[in-house]
Amino acid sequence: MLNKLLNFYCAAKQLKLTFTKLKFKRMKFFIDTANLAQIKEAQDMGVLDGVTTNPSLMAKEGIKGQNNILKHYVDICNIVTGDVSAEVIATDFDGMVAEGEALAALHERIVVKIPMIKEGVKAIKYFTEKGIKTNCTLVFSAGQALLAAKAGATYVSPFIGRLDDVSTDGLALIDDIRLIYDNYGYETQILAASVRHPMHIIECAKLGADVATCPLSAITALLNHPLTTSGLAQFLADAKK
Ligand code: G3P
Repeated sequence: MLNKLLNFYCAAKQLKLTFTKLKFKRMKFFIDTANLAQIKEAQDMGVLDGVTTNPSLMAKEGIKGQNNILKHYVDICNIVTGDVSAEVIATDFDGMVAEGEALAALHERIVVKIPMIKEGVKAIKYFTEKGIKTNCTLVFSAGQALLAAKAGATYVSPFIGRLDDVSTDGLALIDDIRLIYDNYGYETQILAASVRHPMHIIECAKLGADVATCPLSAITALLNHPLTTSGLAQFLADAKK
């Protein structure tokens, strides 16, 4: 009897894991930039599912002043059809709530990006209860990812490249978060960030990250293979014969 119960429990757990994986089986590509031309280029390829920005990426494009910053987020939303992460600057709960509400009111595609700090966790919980999407950023550990999921974040952003930069395996963190989320059926989507090159994308896909947010160069690098280049050159040459 005990054995039967145990077998039933194991089968149910396996079924739950399989179902969770099936539910998220389509990997999303976001572009990690505030550059409108690059966003358009990725959108034109037909493979773009959304955009992530951060204050450094906005500054890189020379977007300054509150009005220009808000207008730029709307411009991005008008190019893409998916979620657009816009980051709050405040680090206190009230400030994050005020900024996040203003950002969310800009466009239905805006996702409020909030740093992984105590006040941020509280703000994520607040926005979750209001039905506003959030992206918990600056995540470098499984514990932080667990907190983000418990607060109900829509996305969690582990920075894999920055972990690699300090001799820590960024992809191992994706693997750990996938395991933890699947153990409990957390619906927070794993958004691999600080992606630097095509192998990061491929490994994230193998590990079951829901989203990879990448520079355009990493997305277009997926196109390249020398045998494709030489094979096409041969086909074109033969077509002229
Ligand atoms: O999405 C976060 C990302 O912009 C950080 O990337 O290359 O500055 O570590 P990176």
